[in-house]
Amino acid sequence: MERKILVTSALPYANGPIHLGHMLEAVQTDIWVRYQKSIGNECYFFCADDTHGTPIMLAAKKENISPKELVKKVWEEHYRDLTGFLIQYDNYYTTDSEENRGFAEEIYNNLKTSGHISNREIEQSYCEHDKMFLPDRFIKGTCPKCGTPDQYGDGCEVCGSNYSPKDLKDSKCAICSSVPVLKPSKHLFFKLNDFRNELHSWMNDPSHLQESAKNKLMEWFEVGLQEWDISRDGPYFGFKIPGEENKYFYVWLDAPIGYIASSKNYFKESEAFYEFWKKPKENTEVVHFIGKDILYFHALFWPAMLMGSGFNVPSRVQVHGFLTVNGEKMSKSRGTFIKASTYLKHLNPEHFRFYLASKLNDGLDDIDLNLDDFVSRINSDLVGNLVNIVSRVSTSILDKLDRTLGSVSEEGKEIIDQFLNAESSIKNYYETKNYSKVMKELTTLGDIVNRYVNDKAPWVLIKTEPEKTREVITTTLNAAKIIAVYMYPVTPNISLKIFELLNLNKEDLNFSNTNSLLENTKVNIYKPLSVRVDDKAIKMMVEESKEATSNKEKRKEDKKSMDLITINDLAKVDLRVGLIKNANYVENSDKLLHLEVDLGEVGIKNVFAGIKSAYKPEELIGLKVVIVANLEPRKMKFGVSEAMILATGKDADLSLMVPHRNSQAGDKLK
Ligand code: MSP
Ligand code: ZN
Repeated sequence: MERKILVTSALPYANGPIHLGHMLEAVQTDIWVRYQKSIGNECYFFCADDTHGTPIMLAAKKENISPKELVKKVWEEHYRDLTGFLIQYDNYYTTDSEENRGFAEEIYNNLKTSGHISNREIEQSYCEHDKMFLPDRFIKGTCPKCGTPDQYGDGCEVCGSNYSPKDLKDSKCAICSSVPVLKPSKHLFFKLNDFRNELHSWMNDPSHLQESAKNKLMEWFEVGLQEWDISRDGPYFGFKIPGEENKYFYVWLDAPIGYIASSKNYFKESEAFYEFWKKPKENTEVVHFIGKDILYFHALFWPAMLMGSGFNVPSRVQVHGFLTVNGEKMSKSRGTFIKASTYLKHLNPEHFRFYLASKLNDGLDDIDLNLDDFVSRINSDLVGNLVNIVSRVSTSILDKLDRTLGSVSEEGKEIIDQFLNAESSIKNYYETKNYSKVMKELTTLGDIVNRYVNDKAPWVLIKTEPEKTREVITTTLNAAKIIAVYMYPVTPNISLKIFELLNLNKEDLNFSNTNSLLENTKVNIYKPLSVRVDDKAIKMMVEESKEATSNKEKRKEDKKSMDLITINDLAKVDLRVGLIKNANYVENSDKLLHLEVDLGEVGIKNVFAGIKSAYKPEELIGLKVVIVANLEPRKMKFGVSEAMILATGKDADLSLMVPHRNSQAGDKLK
């Protein structure tokens, strides 16, 4: 039976721009959706902006517009950026819609009627000046653990401890700086634990979750499933809770319901809506793609809400890791917090899709966008290999052959067979979200054709044997046609251009069509499929991303990105006083000196140190320095370095760390 699949990406918050991290998720989902469509499944891709909550309310206030106006403006920008990366939604909606209000009320009422909602009074911080209850992020104060000022109400960015805003010292309202008071208020809770058994069996079905996501959930299970506070006091930008006075649904209650609302807005009264969300499932599936930070919401709260209110539970929650840039968390000060719109100004969206696909798999590990690697992969694997297959045979050589294909030779058929043989594994890799393996297969296939073209050298052959040349080109372009189908989910525009070149109908750009040969047809004029990445464009993108950051933000980030180590981590480093016994130049090296350092009981160690710019060997002999004594020996060009010497500065300003008072070779640092 044909599958009917409803697919979603997590709904981006409306309080910030789309960045490359969001794009990882959108691209991972879009590739899967395009694949499902191209093998003939009925597949829908729904998403929306996540619009409610305090941050949006306050951002609107700041801009002097209503939250609804803000949300509308942001929606336009989000939609422009996401579709700029060729993300093909069937519907991109908003959570601030009447459909969503309706379903939020329906689900809440059902949960309440079946006894899954409780209520009690809790004390919360309240600002008398702003006349509102303050969420954790809107209270600032001094960390109770380490004493750092200006920390948020929920945790300290410097020492990493988590606490409740009540424990914060000299807390202040983050909006107006007045001192908040504690005020009691009735809150409503969803009794998650009522669904303990049902959830447990849902998550133990491996078709629902990746193994590592399940393991994470098991940890939460063991701690115990707490009741979830689903209400917020007004003023709040969101939906009023029916039957309550001045209470609103917490944004995370109505956000996932936005998946249902986006589908309803698309399907209207059509039966398909009920098949996905209400009727017992036969051949329908609902698949959510999310990042690992929101697993708790999607694999505990969300299925439980659905179980308790008569909706179908998800068929799968597919979790991905985070995008890092050049090996680190995206950082505004380093220019690696890259907005989608900034990327699009300088670079090609299909290049991002191609690069990500070559790294994505079905795991939860983070994915690194290394900008140097990006340039070389696009230039070699995409432009130099796959695009090259087409470009090298489609210009002047074809002109000399009246731009007409002949037939595929016996030898050519062998190549085409290798291509067709790869189809089932490529399909399997797409289905299981192992896109990096698809890309490996494609590179291998590309290598096969490129080698074939090199061997045949059609640019020479054309001079003497035009018909043989025609055969070679016919085989090559038949291979390109198959590659276009295989690559389509990742680089749809390149595939479309190949189909246009070959005079093929774009409706036939799908997997049902790979094994028909293309013979004796005309080939259109070649238009470049994709061009190399220019280093300069990368530099400009990084510069522009840096400029967008204020100095204050930069300082905050530097603090945040400092990786803290424990006292045990520190104990692993064996720092000692070392006495330099001998020092020499290293032949042919303009940076290094070779030192022999006495470390007392540890013995004498060879150290190659990059300090030639600032020290002469003779002034070093007899000097006591600070040495990392237990560094793994490193093989360098000129020999093995067995320890490391500590210094600061660089070039002529390089300065060695030395013990200030009397000390012996081998003394340990404390
Ligand atoms: N609004 C919620 C989701 C509600 S879904 C019912 C939210 N929004 S978000 O804008 O913060 O994130 C949207 C998605 O983007 C999440 O799945 C999140 O994991 C993902 N990513 C945000 N930053 C990311 C990276 N740096 N890398 C990869 N994905 C990231 O959470
Ligand atoms: Zn205030």
